[in-house]
Amino acid sequence: MSSSTATARSHPNIALIKYWGKRDTKLNLPAVPSLSLTLSQFHTTTSVTWGSNKDLFCLNNIEQSNTQSAKVFQFLDLLTPNRPPCTVVSENNFPTAAGLASSASAFSALAMAASVAADLQLSTTALSVLARQGSGSASRSLWEGWVEWKMGKKLDGTDSHGIPIAPRDHWDVRMVMAVISSQQKPISSRAAMLQTQSTSPMYDAWCNTAQTDVDIAKKAIMEKNLERLGRQMEHSTLKMFSTMFTTQPSVRYWKPQTLAVVEAVEQLRNAGIPCWYTMDAGPNVKILCHAKDAKQIASAIRPIVENHYILEPGHGTHLL
Ligand code: PMV
Repeated sequence: MSSSTATARSHPNIALIKYWGKRDTKLNLPAVPSLSLTLSQFHTTTSVTWGSNKDLFCLNNIEQSNTQSAKVFQFLDLLTPNRPPCTVVSENNFPTAAGLASSASAFSALAMAASVAADLQLSTTALSVLARQGSGSASRSLWEGWVEWKMGKKLDGTDSHGIPIAPRDHWDVRMVMAVISSQQKPISSRAAMLQTQSTSPMYDAWCNTAQTDVDIAKKAIMEKNLERLGRQMEHSTLKMFSTMFTTQPSVRYWKPQTLAVVEAVEQLRNAGIPCWYTMDAGPNVKILCHAKDAKQIASAIRPIVENHYILEPGHGTHLL
């Protein structure tokens, strides 16, 4: 049997204006538009061998069980009908499934490595459409820097993909990642989203105000207005968590230290250091700031957190 191998590397992105909720669960189409920053330093490196003895998925040197690998191989089924058995070897240099956006780097790297190994010539936009079907946020990691993910209108989802809005060197900001816990989250974002949209009375308001959030944030990015962007980012974050808190049963990813970091950010701001927070499906806090303030912010949160990282705007998905 002939085989071909390709390796791709991708970085996580953190949403400034959040994606939460689906208009189509099968195609993974979002109910809201979102906007993100692709980051450096953290990455997923994935090699796909198209044509092997059997389907095999290794993550961080450990062969994954059938249940864990099912998502990966169902994703590869999207590429071609009757694909051959494949080997997928993936490595994260940061905690997996802990609210640090590992699914974004995972599915964008997988989309690129698999399509090249399968000898399909896909544009970056087509890769974004593909990656989206593995994990929504992965559609944004294909590009460097500042990226918007449009909801799209089409039923087949071909207009729901990332769009680059500014490159990584557009603005010298940093994202300070405050790691409260690197343990896996209690409920997946996919399950929590579905639970939210079917039970939270806040969900409609969340959907109806998302486009305004994106428009304001996009303008702030173009004008390099950190305060405007930061305020809108916190607003989007808190609206997203309001829908989670009011879900039945309630979804609460936060830990006491999450709020302690939020308070520290507010105190820093009151002391004249411009910084704003966001969180995802996990207890960790991400703090957006100017590059020159990142170290001082990291020192202020160090006593509260398990670990911290200072990440800068990073590259899009690329082949190695
Ligand atoms: O891409 P998913 O299905 O893991 O969902 C990500 C959802 C959030 O991280 C909470 C928000 C976002 O826009 O990335």
